[in-house]
Amino acid sequence: MQRQLNEQSGEAKKHGLAADDVQPHRPDWTIDQGWSNYSVEEHAVWRTLFDRQSKLLPGRACDEFVEGMKNLPIGPEQIPNFEALSEVLMKKTGWQVVAVPGLVPDDVFFDHLANRRFPAGHFIRKPHELDYLEEPDVFHDVFGHVPMLMNPVIGDYIQAYGLGGLRAKELGVLDKLARVYWYTVEFGLVKQADGMRIYGAGIASSFTESVFALDDLSPNRIGFDLERVMRTHYRIDDFQESYFVIDNLDELLALARIDFAPVYEHIKGLPEHQPGTVLATDRILSRGSGRYHRQKQEIEQGGTSATRQS
Ligand SMILES: [Fe+2]
Repeated sequence: MQRQLNEQSGEAKKHGLAADDVQPHRPDWTIDQGWSNYSVEEHAVWRTLFDRQSKLLPGRACDEFVEGMKNLPIGPEQIPNFEALSEVLMKKTGWQVVAVPGLVPDDVFFDHLANRRFPAGHFIRKPHELDYLEEPDVFHDVFGHVPMLMNPVIGDYIQAYGLGGLRAKELGVLDKLARVYWYTVEFGLVKQADGMRIYGAGIASSFTESVFALDDLSPNRIGFDLERVMRTHYRIDDFQESYFVIDNLDELLALARIDFAPVYEHIKGLPEHQPGTVLATDRILSRGSGRYHRQKQEIEQGGTSATRQS
């Protein structure tokens, strides 16, 4: 999920945390997945994550996610093989999954997406870190993202993001574009006839956020608006304070066709919004209480003041 600009640290050069001292083996940063090298323990972590998420997502994930998952060689027994995934994906939407060692530089990431290659972390989190993710691992990247890549609309949208990323970088507005990706591909919600559903991979691959995003009274759920989202900061270290909801996936197809350059120009110099801010102009679907983040802040401030006293 963190193939994003690190907003809070002002990081604007890399898509995430790709370290300067990490040298790629190939110019495009891809590596062999090395599927036969996974240990029994690593496959077991996959199974644990897969099982609990598969029990949680029915009635929460959108129909397209469920449909995509059903038709992919992804199951509980073992970490999926990227070649097998790519074979199915290629036939369906022309996408493939390529292995990378972790986060990669922005331009490398965008170039992959622009060419319908989804870079996926080949490693899996440790058994004692099931809900802790410093970098996107194979569970987030494959379980969270790949089912949606089976959908032609999402496939086109993410490719357009890759092309748009290369342009946004030249224009110096990558932070604006990254917010659009964050609030759609990673943390997007969509309306369905039977209720609000998850399509964002950051939510779909998270046991706790799958519940928080849909059920908790704390976050705001706001109708998606491109300019509004471009001006809104996001949280990289915790649940989102606001989720932006699209009416259907075709809304993303329309977004993929928009020339963002005039939009960047239009919002240039306008004030930016904090993650929990609600505006008078928002199409509010449910206004959050803000309780979760407020309580966390109070605890943190309490801790700070206790430290100062000591
Ligand atoms: Fe992600």
